[in-house]
Amino acid sequence: MAVKKAWEGFSKGFMEEVQRWGSMKQTGVSLRYMMEFGSRPTPRNLLISSQFLHKELPIRIARRAIELDSLPYGLSHKPAVLKVRDWYLDSFRDLRSFPDIEDNNNELEFTQMIKLIKVRHNNVVPMMALGVQQLKKDLNPKIDYHYLDEIHQFLDRFYMSRIGIRMLIGQHVALHDPSPLPNCVGYIHTKMSPVEVARNASEDARYICLKEYGYAPDVNIYGDPNFTFPYVPTHLHLMVFELVKNSLRAVQERFMDSDKVAPPVRIIVADGVEDVTIKVSDEGGGIPRSGLPRLFTYLYSTAKNPLNEQSETDVETATTMAGYGYGLPISRLYARYFGGDLQIISMEGYGTDAYLHLSRLGDSQEPLP
Ligand SMILES: Nc1ncnc2c1ncn2[C@@H]1O[C@H](COP(=O)(O)OP(=O)(O)OP(=O)(O)O)[C@@H](O)[C@H]1O
Ligand SMILES: [Mg+2]
Repeated sequence: MAVKKAWEGFSKGFMEEVQRWGSMKQTGVSLRYMMEFGSRPTPRNLLISSQFLHKELPIRIARRAIELDSLPYGLSHKPAVLKVRDWYLDSFRDLRSFPDIEDNNNELEFTQMIKLIKVRHNNVVPMMALGVQQLKKDLNPKIDYHYLDEIHQFLDRFYMSRIGIRMLIGQHVALHDPSPLPNCVGYIHTKMSPVEVARNASEDARYICLKEYGYAPDVNIYGDPNFTFPYVPTHLHLMVFELVKNSLRAVQERFMDSDKVAPPVRIIVADGVEDVTIKVSDEGGGIPRSGLPRLFTYLYSTAKNPLNEQSETDVETATTMAGYGYGLPISRLYARYFGGDLQIISMEGYGTDAYLHLSRLGDSQEPLP
């Protein structure tokens, strides 16, 4: 009954089509494959790529639409979640009503369309966060959010899938750039310097910190700036930005009322054979051991939630220092998407080390939830 209500406004035939596509097998792509394929963006290759997406995107999107409809604790019926579900259904419909792609004119039209789909889904993360917030209000405020494991696991799958969909669309669209930057294959930089990306991300995080506190501790980076490997700079930027933001906040909160100078955040970049590892190290007082299991959940933050006063019509994506509790879990998904990982080790009373591992080989398949 609940399912029927949630799907109201969509015809039976359309719903059946969503179900049918949602049960088809997804096909993953590795970083290396995207890089090799994208290094020759000939009209023929762009055609092949668009034909692949024409089949693959509706499968991935249908899966998410179905799952959005069967969430526990009534989450599916929260207005913000319904809105997200409608974005997925609209995108599914756009993709399925696009005819077979037979030539490069069709290909260009298709590319325009998926570009718009990507824009439609820009605010999915804050909108889902609002939905979870709306649910949290209904639940007993004393509930231990650790028990909401099911929701956490759903969000992990959901956001992981979103990273993949956006990577595929973004990569295809970027391959149309008539004058790409040197060493860039779509979103991938074949000679990305992790030290340089870490420097930019740290500066951005310091800027936010400065705005929030009127002061920002230093960030020192150790590693060879000339060392490069193929990766997606926007992904790395996002992850380091989140980690440094957390560290700056912890250091700042700990030292702002003290006479001592705030100790710098230290970033160490190590190039191994298997992984490139980036450690973000701070002396911000650490995290109590009891808090560690909650660290990677979407419901845990020690900051005031900026969404509290918002409704679905004014979800913003403005960056704040902290507050959603999304920084760590989302960063870990980005790391895992290309076969890496993120770990946090903390010494309460002293500080925190975040280890960001990035797989160097680039041949792990996309995780396909
Ligand atoms: N380096 C750190 N030192 C101390 N506590 C930390 C550190 N990193 C994370 N935390 C704790 O973990 C919580 C969750 O971090 P996370 O980045 O996921 O969310 P957030 O910073 O609260 O909000 P946002 O979504 O804006 O990042 C933080 O609220 C903070 O309490
Ligand atoms: Mg954070």
